[in-house]
Amino acid sequence: MATIQPHGGKLINQFRPDTPYEHIQKEIELDLTALSDLELIAIGAYSPLTGFLNQSDYQSVVDRIRLSDGTVWSLPITLPVTRETAESLSTGEDVRLTYNGATYGILQLGDIYFPDKHSEAEKVYKTSDIEHPGVKKLLERPTVYVGGEITLVKLFEKKSFKNYHLDPSETRQKFSSLGWKTVVGFQTRNPVHRAHEYIQKTALETVDGLFLNPLVGETKSDDIPADVRMESYHVLLENYYPSDRVFLSVFPAAMRYAGPREAVFHALVRKNYGCTHFIVGRDHAGVGSYYGTYEAQEIFSQFSADEIGITTLFFEHSFYCTKCEAMASSKTCPHSSENHVILSGTKVRELLRNGELPPSTFSRKEVIEVLINGLRQQEENQLKGDANDYTTQYRLAR
Ligand code: ADX
Repeated sequence: MATIQPHGGKLINQFRPDTPYEHIQKEIELDLTALSDLELIAIGAYSPLTGFLNQSDYQSVVDRIRLSDGTVWSLPITLPVTRETAESLSTGEDVRLTYNGATYGILQLGDIYFPDKHSEAEKVYKTSDIEHPGVKKLLERPTVYVGGEITLVKLFEKKSFKNYHLDPSETRQKFSSLGWKTVVGFQTRNPVHRAHEYIQKTALETVDGLFLNPLVGETKSDDIPADVRMESYHVLLENYYPSDRVFLSVFPAAMRYAGPREAVFHALVRKNYGCTHFIVGRDHAGVGSYYGTYEAQEIFSQFSADEIGITTLFFEHSFYCTKCEAMASSKTCPHSSENHVILSGTKVRELLRNGELPPSTFSRKEVIEVLINGLRQQEENQLKGDANDYTTQYRLAR
């Protein structure tokens, strides 16, 4: 069965576990974001990228949302190193990429450059406010960038949801074996609440399958931890979704909270995973009030449909309306806002922490139960220091 073309036309595969690396002296210690980026580049999720951006691609992505050859690419995937490390390196040489002492990859060092992070923040995140979690992270990471092709020699051991880490080649095969010609991708860093369910199922009315692809890399501390979310997806899918129309696997990238730019990135990556359609709702990948409600939809108008290559499905702000007695959106509901069940993330977290149930018009009761139990369990685990994955390690590091 014909599947959608990956971004740039070819699915990248840079995973070569047999590549010798013992002779390579120089090394760069990765942070968790770089480690997950390394793996995602290698498995083709970031096709057409074959490595960390060199200076000309970096500048081009920051300035015009395109690689230097013109291909649309919205987030600079960079490898920051300290000035001290940079001074020990020379372009043209191979460098081992390590994490906690183990070698995961090899970088063919193409160039070493000093980014203007203020400009990167303003252009990519549309703010240089240090309170923005993406900007904070950008500024906290080291000051020099190194670019070049990578080879992945070892996969990071997945302790959590091991069976849900699939490569784009595997999800493509899966969709094909399910007989799905059209697949809608859904990015989320949250439990699936009624509004998410509504837009997913509305999309599913017109396509063959739904690819629920939660991001499980680093997220900010007050987001619900990925392992708790995964459990909530399971109970929801078991109870409310047709099993032959939904496929769940994880997206192990770090969340950047870059709003519009990240929406484009999320769409292109899901195309690489084999989706033909991608949902962008209200304030996609946003945080606080840095972005307009529909800015993450509007950004797509800068590109032609061919350049993006995946069909975006835009959704208005959705909610349960007590007068309609149904899920609806600002597009389909004529009633005023006091009839709409809308809870902020902060409010929901506050309810959950107090063991209180948000209304079932906001979230399915099975999901809420998992969240309450999971958060309790999580607190206990944190006290025990039980951690071994991107998400848990990151959470405990703070
Ligand atoms: S995020 O990765 O985009 O930050 P989140 O889990 O908050 O994840 O949202 C997942 C998707 O659902 C995004 O496309 C978002 O725009 C959309 N979405 C979330 N809540 C609503 C809502 N109430 N109405 C419409 N779209 C929504």
